[in-house]
Amino acid sequence: AYPFFKKLRQEQPIFPMSQQSDQSTWLVTKYDDVKELLKQPSFIKDQKKLFQTAANQAKSDDVNIFENMMLDVDPPDHTRLRKLVQPFFNPKTIKQLEPRIVEIADQLLAQMEQKSSPVDLIDDYAFPLPIIVISELLGVPSEDRDRFRKWSNTIIAASNEFETDFIEDVEAFTSYLTSLFEERKQHPQDDLITKLLQAEEEGEQLSKDELYSMVVLLIIAGHETTVNLIANTMYALFQHPDQLKKLKDDPSLVEPAIEEGLRYYSPVDFSTARWAQEDMAFHGQTIRRGDLVLASISSANRDEDKFENPSQLDITRSRNAHIAFGYGIHFCLGAPLARLEGKIALERLLSTFPQIHLSENNPEWRTVFLLRGLEHLQIQTKS
Ligand code: HEM
Repeated sequence: AYPFFKKLRQEQPIFPMSQQSDQSTWLVTKYDDVKELLKQPSFIKDQKKLFQTAANQAKSDDVNIFENMMLDVDPPDHTRLRKLVQPFFNPKTIKQLEPRIVEIADQLLAQMEQKSSPVDLIDDYAFPLPIIVISELLGVPSEDRDRFRKWSNTIIAASNEFETDFIEDVEAFTSYLTSLFEERKQHPQDDLITKLLQAEEEGEQLSKDELYSMVVLLIIAGHETTVNLIANTMYALFQHPDQLKKLKDDPSLVEPAIEEGLRYYSPVDFSTARWAQEDMAFHGQTIRRGDLVLASISSANRDEDKFENPSQLDITRSRNAHIAFGYGIHFCLGAPLARLEGKIALERLLSTFPQIHLSENNPEWRTVFLLRGLEHLQIQTKS
């Protein structure tokens, strides 16, 4: 995809992907244009006003777990929902999780040490680490993580289609949450779910649908992204042995290495979408009300007008203003958490297994629309 994006940036930065009499789809590929799109209030998120999607039809127990999901709505709903959870994800609050994240990383590494090489860095490390962390933060039992993984995968895969599997998994996910909420109401804990339940009971801040949607969003966001940050960055480093050596020689480079991993193989890869609320001119193109406008994050992050040698992995890159976490009001809520998890994951991995190396040459990328992540990443932990 990267050469294709490069051609578009040069030749048609606002690219008409499909043009029909009633609706067109555009792809925006340049860094400055993507930022402008994401901050313009006339490009909105709420597609419910325009289309009937699988997510809208998948109701269960009279609850719609996609209704008013913070990621998909506009102010003032967005402002209210974001305010409710923001305090849990501030950098200062997140920093307090550091010792626990180190402990989880070390436990997973100790288990990997017991296994005979090769091991799968994703199944054994990059996947469980963020899941355990987000589960503990929310207050959902991390033993149930295989179920969350399946539900999460189905929802991501079916986001544009109406599939039987999708309906079944949505129902299972919904009734799971119903039981969990009941249990938590009787036995409140010091966790995010308890706080959200209290807000819902007070009635003004959060509806029932919004409660479910928020928890589903946080579980999915916690499942589908940080795992790729860890694995993609390690893969990029394996592909650039000089950069891996630099990091091993100077572990203080871990934070810039994570930032460069985010830029180089952005986990939210292909695009984030907005809908045009009104007819408008946008960099020489006429966009009409109801048009879908896709912003390519990975293309923006490799724009040669913004980044020097963008196809080069450089963990010492200065002014790395990538937009892997988005931009504007929907800027990733979990960014401080993802950054901290990424930093600890790499630090602990490289200090535990200094000899770590790839054991397969061409690991496969998952074919999930929007996200960039590997199916597996087989590694040898010893030389
Ligand atoms: C929003 C990327 C980790 C929760 C976003 C957006 C991006 C993004 C690009 C904006 C989407 C848009 O504008 O349409 C990432 C990446 C991650 C990551 C690359 C890991 C490397 C997380 C984690 C959580 C999380 C760990 C939760 C704990 C959210 C939420 C939103 C969001 C709730 C919606 C915010 C809003 O609508 O105001 N993320 N994310 N993300 N992310 Fe993340």
